[in-house]
Amino acid sequence: MARITLDNVTKRYGANAVIDQLSLDIAHGEFFTLLGPSGCGKTTLLRAIAGFVMPDSGRLLLDGEDITHQPPHLRGTGMVFQDYALFPDKSVFDNVAYGLRVRRLPSGDVRARVDAMLERMGLGALGARLPAALSGGQRQRVALARSLVIEPKVLLMDEPLSNLDAKLRVQMRDVIRQLQQELRITAVFVTHDQEEALSMSDRIALLRAGRIDQLDTPEGLYRQPATAYAADFIGAANLLSVTTRPGPAGQACVELAGAVVSVPIAIERAGQGTLAARPESVSLHSPGTAGLLGAQVVFRRYVGHKVTYALQLADGTPLQADVAATSDPCLGPGAPVALQFGPGCRLVSA
Ligand SMILES: Nc1ncnc2c1ncn2[C@@H]1O[C@H](COP(=O)(O)OP(=O)(O)O)[C@@H](O)[C@H]1O
Ligand SMILES: [Mg+2]
Repeated sequence: MARITLDNVTKRYGANAVIDQLSLDIAHGEFFTLLGPSGCGKTTLLRAIAGFVMPDSGRLLLDGEDITHQPPHLRGTGMVFQDYALFPDKSVFDNVAYGLRVRRLPSGDVRARVDAMLERMGLGALGARLPAALSGGQRQRVALARSLVIEPKVLLMDEPLSNLDAKLRVQMRDVIRQLQQELRITAVFVTHDQEEALSMSDRIALLRAGRIDQLDTPEGLYRQPATAYAADFIGAANLLSVTTRPGPAGQACVELAGAVVSVPIAIERAGQGTLAARPESVSLHSPGTAGLLGAQVVFRRYVGHKVTYALQLADGTPLQADVAATSDPCLGPGAPVALQFGPGCRLVSA
């Protein structure tokens, strides 16, 4: 079992709170992702869990036991670094064997466990190679094998895919996720890539300047972003300043760009706010359709399965709308359209 609890953890560098009174519970066997832009504190938080960074205040618990002051090598965590940190002068076998030898396992056991791990990672034939003679993906798998062979309670990964080329990066997502599920290990994964986070995680903590902006499942974060920050960071979102008042039948009357349109969101009272509308929640209709919002095409971008239209409202506000490639009206710059906001739109806080 490995349940991780962070209780009101703060880490400062100078006057700057890089981790700011952060509390978090990660369940046993969970694939948990720390997501956010560069500098938001992801690496610091991961290193605090590993024991390489000591919090200024707050506590860290593993299965309810306080490990705040426990040294890293006693915590039962394995770590994979962005640059892999392989020993360049050691063979693949010796790299993977390293942690077991440090723990003074008998050499027969070392051989058996390393061989089994190399086999599982598809590295069975490469034990004698040096890291320099491996591809990026193979090096990545050696780094994973090296951290997993010690059978850690918790696997910590800091942007482990960011040095791989695009195709391999996507393949390795599945490799890591499947391995984590097979081993039923608790994993904490750091990335700035929202698609990576969505596709791999049980839950995601979206960080913002050392605090959790939103903690949710991938679906929850995508469908119900609570803030403009979350709506903007996860997927694409049009963020529109609007004035709203309750309308009939669960709709809201939304005023923007000098027009009033109906949007399927339930609100209780009138106010001002930000409407987050994903491009796939904005549909295109014939210009002049009654009750819809007039706009003009700025340009059309074809990306295979869908077409994204960059549009502009009457007052110049930019907006994007996605259309399935199979129902693309093929409109060029300047073409007038009418827009409808469909299900999935949300009012969000700042
Ligand atoms: N050892 C350190 N000394 C001073 N500032 C640091 C140190 N480590 C990180 N920081 C600062 O803390 C902030 C968060 O860094 P980091 O955790 O590496 O963010 P991320 O991994 O999300 O990019 C950054 O502003 C960074 O400059
Ligand atoms: Mg980092």
